[in-house]
Amino acid sequence: MGLFSKDIQTLDDLFVHQLKDIYYAENQITKALPKMIDKATNPQLKEGFETHLAGTKNHIQRLEQVFEMHGKSAEGTDCPAIDGIIEEANDVSGEVGDKQVLDAALIASAQAVEHYEMTRYGTLVAWAKQLGREDCASLLQQNLDEEKATDKKLTSMAESGINRAA
Ligand SMILES: [Fe+2]
Ligand SMILES: [Fe+2]
Repeated sequence: MGLFSKDIQTLDDLFVHQLKDIYYAENQITKALPKMIDKATNPQLKEGFETHLAGTKNHIQRLEQVFEMHGKSAEGTDCPAIDGIIEEANDVSGEVGDKQVLDAALIASAQAVEHYEMTRYGTLVAWAKQLGREDCASLLQQNLDEEKATDKKLTSMAESGINRAA
């Protein structure tokens, strides 16, 4: 379904569309992370990706709650943006031979994923509030806060030596 499909007429429709978009994205991320865990060399980074995988599964559950609260069934809709980010991550990391440089590339890719999630959740929180759904907004805000925290952790990992070693 394209963003400007006839099915989207109201802000509510747009909200549900965006929910489906991030639901698809979070599911794709759970599929991509095990490969990143395998590729990461630095134990701290590996552990960080494992924590992120657990967090992502949690995000999916919260999204399912939001769908339910909003009277919709939880389903995804194709999101070419996250597909592209993941595809690029796979391409780049496939080309890097040096282990430390590979870790730096993985962090950069993971941060691109986090920033995508942050922009989606930021919008969803704002729209939920506009629609008078404070209950949905607060669950979405929890996901947003966790994406921000993951992004910060990745930044400090990059600054604390993984990039320097590379
Ligand atoms: Fe997430
Ligand atoms: Fe995330």
